[in-house]
Order: sequence, then structure tokens, then C-alpha cells
Amino acid sequence: MCGIVGYIGKKTHGYDVLVDGLKRLEYRGYDSAGICVMTDKKTKTFRSVGTVARLEEKVGTPIDGVRVGIAHTRWATHGKPRVKNAHPHSSGKIHLVHNGIIENYQQLKKELIAAGYTFTSETDSEVVAHLIARENKKHDFAEAMYRALGRVVGAYALVILHEDYPDTLIAARNSSPLIVGIGKDAYIVASDASAIVSHTDRVVYLDDGEVMMVHDGAYTITNLRGRKKTKKTHTIDVDTQKAERSGYAHFMLKEMHEQPHAIEDAMRGRIILADGMARLGGLNSVEKRLRTIKRIVIVSCGTSYHAGLVGEYMLEEYAGIPTEVEWASEFRYRKPLIDAHTAVIAISQSGETADTRAAVREVKQKGGLALGIVNAVGSTIARETDAGVYNHAGPEIGVASTKAFTSQLAILTLLTVYLGRQRNMSMTMGKRILSELRKTPQAMTHILAQHDAIKKIAKKYANATSMFYLGRKYNFPIALEGALKMKEISYIHTEGYASGEMKHGPIALIDKDFPSVILAPKDSVYDKTLSAIEEIKARSGKVIALTTHGTKQVEKIADDVIYIPKTLELLTPLLAVVPLQLLAYYTGVIKGYDVDKPRNLAKSVTVE
Ligand code: F6R
Repeated sequence: MCGIVGYIGKKTHGYDVLVDGLKRLEYRGYDSAGICVMTDKKTKTFRSVGTVARLEEKVGTPIDGVRVGIAHTRWATHGKPRVKNAHPHSSGKIHLVHNGIIENYQQLKKELIAAGYTFTSETDSEVVAHLIARENKKHDFAEAMYRALGRVVGAYALVILHEDYPDTLIAARNSSPLIVGIGKDAYIVASDASAIVSHTDRVVYLDDGEVMMVHDGAYTITNLRGRKKTKKTHTIDVDTQKAERSGYAHFMLKEMHEQPHAIEDAMRGRIILADGMARLGGLNSVEKRLRTIKRIVIVSCGTSYHAGLVGEYMLEEYAGIPTEVEWASEFRYRKPLIDAHTAVIAISQSGETADTRAAVREVKQKGGLALGIVNAVGSTIARETDAGVYNHAGPEIGVASTKAFTSQLAILTLLTVYLGRQRNMSMTMGKRILSELRKTPQAMTHILAQHDAIKKIAKKYANATSMFYLGRKYNFPIALEGALKMKEISYIHTEGYASGEMKHGPIALIDKDFPSVILAPKDSVYDKTLSAIEEIKARSGKVIALTTHGTKQVEKIADDVIYIPKTLELLTPLLAVVPLQLLAYYTGVIKGYDVDKPRNLAKSVTVE
């Protein structure tokens, strides 16, 4: 949510580094973009509403001779997407970009207005610029910044420059991600590694309450009171190719097609088929403690929450561990009961979701065991949990999550076998699940090849204004996920429901213009699902049914049918979600929307 980049270095190509970084971070927000660069001790600032491409148009000829600069791509929180609210924000000679929310900004704003400061934006961020400027009347840049941050309550990742200090760049973090790339002759500060990796693979992850200052080519890291800290540098391994569209029309399309690979990568080295066991190296340190766990709580948001719901079915049925799933945004406000026998699993693609992070902190505060299933390597949740498992799905750029979701399901399957085998799961059952899991990449490839048929269905229903998505048992969460994908990408009003709940109210909405997508694989609740289809057809509702190859009844009653290969019931979600992703994608494309940048959304929701 909001992408920020800062550059300081010997070379004068800072403008290119900043703009390239912004493009790579654009998935974090695209309401507006802005840049402030310094050449010959003078700053130039450009801001525009919309994408980075529009900002580039506004700048015109790329700016030469930039040794220091900051840039921002915005997801609006305070103030509409207007030029005046675009970052950077300035106060005199101080310019900054901010990601996060300053919670006490109204109080600070009043105080600053009373002190004579004029606000030009509706943002919370501008207060920080004025606070630093006010302190800077008496103190140098660094001291002014420490004093100003001492007044700020809330979440921030900030990169700040000062016209009188052309050899200095300051970055500070509290609750919003910030990574510093350490190059040979340059430093690049960014919200995530994607803006850094093409320049250097050496990074420092800033933690909450830390400030990094680059001055005259050297850097120091301090706490918020200026006390120096020593930090480890890390080498990151991000395949920049994976963050390119590589000929696909959209990142979402590319990432859907990457799913078979993502599942292979999630399984690699983690299956010991002969023993029916899963090996999860990231859990080695807590292996003994996991044997004593009597309850699991999964915390996550959005699509990751839906993965957690599938996990609940798997873990209860096959590992025999009572499991609950909670939206992370609700978890900490509910006085959660966590004891030594509870493991809390945070599922997050980005590893930066503010609500999920807050839930992890709450668990640790209560002395519970916090585990992570995280895709982004080195992200905050990955670092703050006690142990965890990486997805290894590679960067996910499309705002609508696809490959991260299916790889989360693959990891949850492995975890189910891992925990199940610590308990009562037989070797035979372990083998059965794992050998079927190994077949899912191929089955997915087969589903992805049906894209033309799914596109036709999308065309037929693209003008619907509302749709139901219905499923039962393992595929109830997939109904929720299918509905979420459709609403995110095509702006059709969709509702995901447990199909058994339909008759308790929602069925009142059904008529010939209100289609339903029904998940009806040949599983243990197949007959019940057929009844749900009949009930909808009896009320003239149109039905798009998703079923297993070889089932004939569905074809007879549904209006349109999508087939998935046969697999174990617990693995059907891994396959069933793929056609629903394609359906949402093609509907969005047919309706002419930019599916990689759905309105009002941003990837990586780093504010609560
Ligand atoms: C939907 C989507 C979001 C995320 C949610 C959690 O397509 O992408 O619902 O799943 O914001 O994000 P992570 O998994 O990064 O914590």
C-alpha cells in the first residue's frame, strides 16, 4: 500500500532508478505518483494523478544529473487522488514520501497551523514535513527528524531529503515496510525488494523504530533517539524475470499460468513419499513443540483467509487438530485466548499486511507460538514469526492474488501431512495425499488449457449485475474466493455462500438475471450440491457448474459446465479455484477493465 523509493549515490542516474523503482512498486497503489530530485542543490518536484506513466509524461525528458531523490506511488488513505495530495510533500527545504497512517495528524495539524504553517494537502503525511521543518529551525536535519518522529503516533515508512544536505538521505520505519539496498556506489531505499534487486542483492531490512541515514556515501542505522545499531546485511535472491509480464497481457494472466510451477516449487524437497511424510525445514526449530499443540488458530486476510478456511477442513479432518480461522483484522480486538498448546498460523502472501502483523504481535505478546506461511522472503511477518514455511511462489504482482493462493493450499496440505503424521495419520494416508498433491500441477495445466471455453462463458455472463458463488465443505471457501476474484476484477456484485445456507434467505434473490456459479465436484457432498442446483433452476436461475470429469448429472441441469480432473476431496480446492480465476479474469478483460490495477485496491495492505 503506497510504494516509496529513495536514491542516493555517486552516479547521476538517480531519476532512472527512481522511476524504474516506482514502476515495480506500482502494484502497491496507483492513485497518484510523484518524484522529487535534486540537481545542483536545487530540487525539482513533479506530481500527477494516476499511474507512473502519467507522471513520466508530465516530467517529459528524463532528468539528468540526479544523485539524490525520492519518489512515491500512492494508494489514497487521507485525501482524494488529486495532485495536491500526491507525494512528495514539502515544507520549505524538506521533502518527503510516506507510506502508512499518522494517527495523531489532526492534533498535530492544528498545532502546526496555529504555529503559522500552511497546509497544501488533505493528507496526514504533510504534518511530518512541517514538524521536521519546525524542529529544523533550531536543530540540524538529523536531530530535527528525530524530534519530529518523537511526536508522531502511527505507521510510517518515510524517506526524507533536505535541500541544504545534498549528500544526505534519511529513511525511517515504524510498522510500514522499508528495505535498504546497498550498492557499490549507491543506496536505494524502497518499500520492497522489487525496486532494488536490479541494482544490488545486498540489503538491510529496517525494523520498527529504526532510522537509516546515508551521509557522504556511508550509512548508519539508529533507533528513534539516535542511538547507533548494528544490523546484519542480507543477500536476496529475487529472479527479476519473474517480476516481468513476459509477453502475457497481464500479470494476473501470467501468474495464473505460473500456478503449476508454483505448486512444484512449494513441494520441492518437502515430500518424502516412501514414508508418507512432509519435510518442512522452516519448522524444525519448533518440531517438538508442535507435537504438543492441541489447537490451531489461522489468522489472515482476504484471499489468504480463504486459504486458511480450506486449511481448517484439512487440519481437522486429517491431522485431527481443532482449528479456527479468523480475519486478522478482528482477531486482536476479540481478546483471543492463546495458551501454550495453541499454534497461531499467519498466512500472508506479502508478509506485510498490517492486520496480520498486528495479530502476530498479539500472539507473541501472549506467549503463544506464532507460525507463518509467507510468500515474500524476508518480509516482516516472515521475520517476526517464531518459525514458518515459505511458499516460494515468486513475486506476485497482479493485485488479485492467484498463484499465492494455490501455493498456500499446497503448503497447507503439506502441513496437514506433517502434523497428521506427528499424530494419528497412517503412512498410507500420508502417501496417498502426497502422491495426489504431486499430480496437481499437471491437472492445473489441463484446466488452464480450457481458457477459451471459460472465456466464452465469461462473455455470456459479463453483463450480469449480481452473481452467487456457492460451495459446500472443502469448496465453500472456494465459493468465497471465486466471488472475491470476480468482484475485484470485474466489479460485478458477487456473494460467496455455503450452498446449504441458500435456502435460509439468499435464494429470495434468484431470478433469471441472477446467475450462480456452483462448485459441484464429485465429492462426499456431491448429491447435496446437485439439490442446490435443482433448487436454483426451479426458480429460473442460471447455473454455471464446476464439476469433475465424467459426472453426467450436472450437465443435464446446469446451463454451463466447467470440468476439473478427479482428485482427492481435500485437493479439489486447488483445482476448482483455477477456472474461477480465469472466469473473473476474462470477465474483467471483456468489460474493458485493467485487471492488474483494479479500482480502489492495492496489493500489500500495510495500513490497518
Ligand atoms: C485478493 C487479495 C487480497 C489479499 C489480502 C491479504 O485478491 O489479494 O485479499 O489476499 O490483502 O494479503 P496478504 O496475503 O499479502 O496478507
